[in-house]
Amino acid sequence: TEFVTVSELASMMNVSPTQVISACMSLGIFASINQRLDAETIQIVAEEFGFETEFVSADVQEAIPEVEDKEEDLIDRPPIITVMGHVDHGKTSLLDKIRNANVTAGEAGGITQHIGAYSVTLKDNRKMTFLDTPGHEAFTAMRARGAQVTDVAIIIVAADDDVMPQTKEAISHAQAANVPMVFAINKIDKPGANPDKIREQLSAMNILVEEWGGKYQCQEISAKQNLNIDDLLDKVLLEAEILHLRANPNKNAVGTVIESSLDKGKGYVTNMLVHAGTMKIGDIVLVGRNYGRVRAMHDEHGVALKEAGPSQPVSVLGINGAPSAGDTFHIMDDEREAKTIATKREQLYREQGLRTNKHITLDEIGRRL
Ligand code: GTP
Ligand code: MG
Repeated sequence: TEFVTVSELASMMNVSPTQVISACMSLGIFASINQRLDAETIQIVAEEFGFETEFVSADVQEAIPEVEDKEEDLIDRPPIITVMGHVDHGKTSLLDKIRNANVTAGEAGGITQHIGAYSVTLKDNRKMTFLDTPGHEAFTAMRARGAQVTDVAIIIVAADDDVMPQTKEAISHAQAANVPMVFAINKIDKPGANPDKIREQLSAMNILVEEWGGKYQCQEISAKQNLNIDDLLDKVLLEAEILHLRANPNKNAVGTVIESSLDKGKGYVTNMLVHAGTMKIGDIVLVGRNYGRVRAMHDEHGVALKEAGPSQPVSVLGINGAPSAGDTFHIMDDEREAKTIATKREQLYREQGLRTNKHITLDEIGRRL
């Protein structure tokens, strides 16, 4: 089992991540800042800094029943897609084009709300969900909390530039998370565009695109001029099909927080992605160290919803605080129980925050899904 990341461990001990990284290195472990460490490594590293480690079992987790899905309950669910790439390579342009090109008549009147994700329905009725939180930061933040919220990653590279540090980082994040990648070579409308140079630079990283005999799908696009974006989406959907993504809508919802905020008028707004089950108005939500009853739900067009199913992004009112991106949520049957667990988690969190007593407590709470 892997527990916390290098940077989380560093902050628990109030030392810099670099110190933790070099401590790992002296053990022969080359860890990056966002890498999660196993129990043994944590214990040895913590000892070096004079800390004693205590692993507490997350028994409060057992209060949440695991429902075994019946085969007949499983239905296909839309893939969840993240676009990652270097600064200025066209992530936002691509996401905006996809969103605007696939607004159906009924949605056109609504005002676009940024809820961290949106779903589109293509002309042939296939659906996809896009995370539009910026790039791989969100991806890493969620991964650090143990949440896997992406089915397929689009790695976008500008054809008038190079495979850049953040491109490489995005690739290694996707690889580490075992998320299939589709490459979008963007800005092919530009005079200086050289898509083959990008293919070559990728091949130097052992990433061989399909047209060069490799296994990675790749599409030349122009996000600005709206060129070949449908072809890109076809390739992404093909990649997703291989995964046979299914979920059971007939149970209490589980999912992940994308972002949350405090609105002066509305209170806490929690944007979440449902993974399985169906969330309904009035449901009792346990999320991270918070809980609450779903008072209202809205989609990315500001339309009020009565329920939200698998792969659906939804903005929820009624949670009693602002959970972190990547926190798992569960719908509970008993409000008292939700409150008890949230309170226990808060206590554990506070204990972790007490760094002065040279004692750290690690738990798996909220790191499941
Ligand atoms: P950050 O969020 O800052 O990392 O950038 P980004 O990856 O979201 O890139 P963004 O979509 O903001 O595009 C950066 C610039 O490139 C903008 O000026 C876009 O208009 C331009 N751009 C994006 N796609 C294309 C394209 O296909 N062709 C051309 N010519 N310009 C493009
Ligand atoms: Mg952007």
